[in-house]
Amino acid sequence: MASLNPVFFLVFLLLTTFYHLGEGRAPHTFLVGGSADGWKVPESSNKTRLIHWAETQRFLVGDSLEFNYDNKTDSVLQVTKENYEKCITKEASKTYTATQTILKLNESGPHYFISGDQGNCAKGEKLIVVVESPGHPMPKPVPAPAPLTPSKPPSSPAPPTSPAPPTSPAPTPANNTAVGLVAGSGIFWTSIAVIGLAWA
Ligand SMILES: *[C@@H]1O[C@H](CO)[C@@H](O)[C@H](O)[C@H]1NC(C)=O
Ligand SMILES: *[C@@H]1O[C@H](CO)[C@@H](O)[C@H](O)[C@H]1NC(C)=O
Ligand SMILES: *[C@@H]1O[C@H](CO)[C@@H](O)[C@H](O)[C@H]1NC(C)=O
Repeated sequence: MASLNPVFFLVFLLLTTFYHLGEGRAPHTFLVGGSADGWKVPESSNKTRLIHWAETQRFLVGDSLEFNYDNKTDSVLQVTKENYEKCITKEASKTYTATQTILKLNESGPHYFISGDQGNCAKGEKLIVVVESPGHPMPKPVPAPAPLTPSKPPSSPAPPTSPAPPTSPAPTPANNTAVGLVAGSGIFWTSIAVIGLAWA
């Protein structure tokens, strides 16, 4: 039996390695729309063709999108969710105008692309690409940490930590009394100062 253990170990190693390779597969370049001329106005019968295409793909960080189009009449804009919904071509965060645009998806989360031609966008030339980070299939919003207690205690005068207690049998009450006396005298002298100021 003992001679089999290394074999099991190797098999285990191989399986886990391939499992992780599969999870973080080699980067893909996606032809947008699934064809060489996919970035265009969909047929009127199928306005959601591009959106539907994107929903059926799995995009990971490191993958790329390839948009092919005639740059005399079209372009690619990366926009906000709001501008995606309303087909607003102003204020694009990125504008691409090369006939072949390949862009790398560096960040997880949704990416919104619309045609630079507002009319084309309204006819369905638009795309939401939701990018996953490998190993984290569902990017979850991080809940804001709820501050239950203040991070620092209120600035009360901390009792001085005496390094070595004296040899007397009851050091602690004596120390506390001393602290109380020091604090008390502080209040006493502050009162004196305030009274003095009031008199001045
Ligand atoms: C619309 O396009 C999608 C994606 O290409 C396809 O699966 C679907 O069959 C099309 N529907 C029609 C009615 O053409
Ligand atoms: C259109 O694409 C060609 C070839 O890719 C490029 O040389 C040209 O600069 C592009 N035009 C614009 C307006 O970006
Ligand atoms: C991704 O990163 C590369 C290199 O830092 C950059 O050139 C590219 O514009 C980025 N892609 C996007 C979509 O921002």
